Amino acid sequence: MTLYHARIFDTPDDPFTGAGLRADDDGGLLVIDGAIIERGSYAQLRARHPTETVVDLTDGVLLPGFVDTHVHYPQIRAIGGLGLPLLDWLEQCALPEEARLADVAYARTIAREFVTALIDAGTTTALVFGSHFARAVDALFEAAAGIGLRITSGLVVSDRMLRSDLHIHAVIAYDEMRTLADRWHGVGRARYAVIPRFALSCSNDLLDACSTLHRDIDGSWVTTHINENPAEIIAVRELCQSPSYLDSYDRHKLVDPRTVLAHNVHPTYGELTRLGATGASVAHCPTSNAALGSGLFPLDRHLAAGVRVALGSDVGAGTGPSLFKEGLQAYFVQQLRGSDGVPLSAAHLLYLATAAGAAALELGAQIGDLSPGKRFDAMWLRPDDGGTLSRVLPHANGADDALAKIFALATPSDVASVWIDGVAVGPTQGAGQAGAA
Ligand code: GUN
Ligand code: ZN
Repeated sequence: MTLYHARIFDTPDDPFTGAGLRADDDGGLLVIDGAIIERGSYAQLRARHPTETVVDLTDGVLLPGFVDTHVHYPQIRAIGGLGLPLLDWLEQCALPEEARLADVAYARTIAREFVTALIDAGTTTALVFGSHFARAVDALFEAAAGIGLRITSGLVVSDRMLRSDLHIHAVIAYDEMRTLADRWHGVGRARYAVIPRFALSCSNDLLDACSTLHRDIDGSWVTTHINENPAEIIAVRELCQSPSYLDSYDRHKLVDPRTVLAHNVHPTYGELTRLGATGASVAHCPTSNAALGSGLFPLDRHLAAGVRVALGSDVGAGTGPSLFKEGLQAYFVQQLRGSDGVPLSAAHLLYLATAAGAAALELGAQIGDLSPGKRFDAMWLRPDDGGTLSRVLPHANGADDALAKIFALATPSDVASVWIDGVAVGPTQGAGQAGAA
């Protein structure tokens, strides 16, 4: 048993329906075997458990681990390719690097870099775009299991457009996806996702193979891209001969509550209505949308249609693994949308980066906030000595202001400890700084 003593912020209730930030300024969390058993004031918990080991985290803020609902593992070294729209960026920046993962030794190196980058950013759960190469997907699942990261991932498939060395035949795709799913789905914290890259690069036969696998593997997920860039949307409509981008997936039975669609910057009213009805989720990827000039996300229209929205870093079009940065950029985008923008508080940003992602991945019963009954997936934010956050945070005017300052200024170097299921997993360079008192 361990008693954590900390200033604790989380969002167990949805700020988009009026809830606020939950803040315990002098809080305690009692954790046994990775599960949160009690939460309350530290003084009361200490009085009830006078002999338990105490971990003193008072010199910082304890937050739930982040949930990244859209991130590409093979693109960790492609971050920073600025100045191009989507299709040019794919051709010039992302796909040459993705092709290198045909070499399994290289893929293992990238897998390690990727999982450590996520952990160091405070991300404890992710829906991950895997690789086009099955052995590279194995490397990812192995690296995630090695460090403890909760991932849902799988083979990325394409059979047209883009580079032909990333193509796969639909029959072979089914076999490779099936083998990976049989090996990893439900093993430890891993789950399998069917991942057609996007409608532009997938034939009807390939989407049918994805749909069949999704049906055959109980509890599997579907993730892909949608409505990201105007040129891409026109190309999809022409090539797929479908009335809408969403329909190109929907007619293959790939849209349901276990579907997460990335971007959706330019949806039609009909698509939003259908997304709301199906219970599928949208991964909002604001730094990617800005870097590729894709557009300003219409959060108001998603909320009006009852579409579930969470945050994704979309590394490597996104500019890094930190959901602090994504949260801040999500805020900026809504500010720039003028009267159509949804004003986002710091509590909204934390919710989008944690509980909303957990809900989108149907993990809300286990993770997403720090309530009793949940797993202890958490990060301790202790501002880097000498950094601007360390100077600013002590002067915050209450919890909401402190959280806003954190979203404005925090980077992975301010993440001092990360736990998954109660086990300290980060930061990966050197031991975490949280010591027993
Ligand atoms: N659409 C298809 N592939 C990709 C990708 O790798 N990144 C982004 N942002 N959009 C895509
Ligand atoms: Zn993406």
